Amino acid sequence: MRIGNLELDGAVFMAPMAGITDPPFRRIVQGFGVSGLWTEMISSHAIVRAHKILATMNTGEHTVPVVFQIVGKDPEVMAECARIIQDHGAAAIDINMGCPARQVVGSGGGVALMRDLGLVGRIVRSVRNAISIPLTVKMRSGWDEKSLNAPELARIAEQEGADGLVVHARSRSACHSGPVSFDLIRQVKACVSIPVIGNGAVTEVGDALSMAQETDCDGIMVGRGALGRPWLPRKILEALFGWMSYNTQKPLSEVVGLHYEDQLKWSGVLRGVRRMRKHLGWYSKGMVGAAEFRSRVFTEENPESVLTFIANFFGKVMVP
Ligand SMILES: Cc1cc2nc3c(=O)[nH]c(=O)nc-3n(C[C@H](O)[C@H](O)[C@H](O)COP(=O)(O)O)c2cc1C
Repeated sequence: MRIGNLELDGAVFMAPMAGITDPPFRRIVQGFGVSGLWTEMISSHAIVRAHKILATMNTGEHTVPVVFQIVGKDPEVMAECARIIQDHGAAAIDINMGCPARQVVGSGGGVALMRDLGLVGRIVRSVRNAISIPLTVKMRSGWDEKSLNAPELARIAEQEGADGLVVHARSRSACHSGPVSFDLIRQVKACVSIPVIGNGAVTEVGDALSMAQETDCDGIMVGRGALGRPWLPRKILEALFGWMSYNTQKPLSEVVGLHYEDQLKWSGVLRGVRRMRKHLGWYSKGMVGAAEFRSRVFTEENPESVLTFIANFFGKVMVP
């Protein structure tokens, strides 16, 4: 797949998820195989005020393209932010037009932009003129079920110079639950000639196959389906793009232990121990004894003890 001048191997992507898709998580996903990684959203105002925040978004040790996602509503600030991030080594810039969080919508960014398509056009044009790397827009199906205007937004984004689109096919009012509209993805795909990546509720390989077949989208973006299952994008790549079968004969304890140690290096010990708790919950989901494992690791502050719990709990279980 190609987005602008960016050549990608396959077309299965890891979604941006604030508080989750930090460099350690991205590296774990990348270790299995993925076509590209999105950073969680970055406030354009914060970057323009203090570039040093970018250190936390480091692209280091990534072997696949990293798309930096920016959020905001001021065309000039968004353009300046995109320029700074381009210089920082981003493979591409993505504009967030889908976040429903109150603070983001309250300040006019994220999905609030879907209610002002004139402003959408000005933001895309301004960012386009500021950078030479590819530019994408991630949107929802619309503000609510009565205004499903993703196709209109898509046309404007393409006209103003976007190179690709991601459609999370739920409206703002559906937030993160409920069915996704394949029909909306299909409509977007039919009205633009730039690549369209479908997103929403892909939790199994079969979901990705149905989305691809029924919408004709060019790529798939995986979100929560990869939590505790960072190999999911790879499995979809095998099914959709015929990637060679990966040797998954890895003990799960090794994968979780690696993630744990990388997180502690990245976040510092105390923050890392706490930040990893949710991942340990996801990795252990559905396994026998998971409740007891969680009650131990959610209260333990000593990383050596947690690593021992991890080794004992996952034991000889292999990555599926
Ligand atoms: C905890 C969390 C944080 C998220 N953060 C972002 C974000 O920073 N930027 C963004 O565009 N979408 C964000 N999303 C939305 C996801 O990228 C994705 O569009 C959504 O989860 C739907 O995909 P899924 O059903 O496969 O999870 C977030 C979702 C979750 C659950």
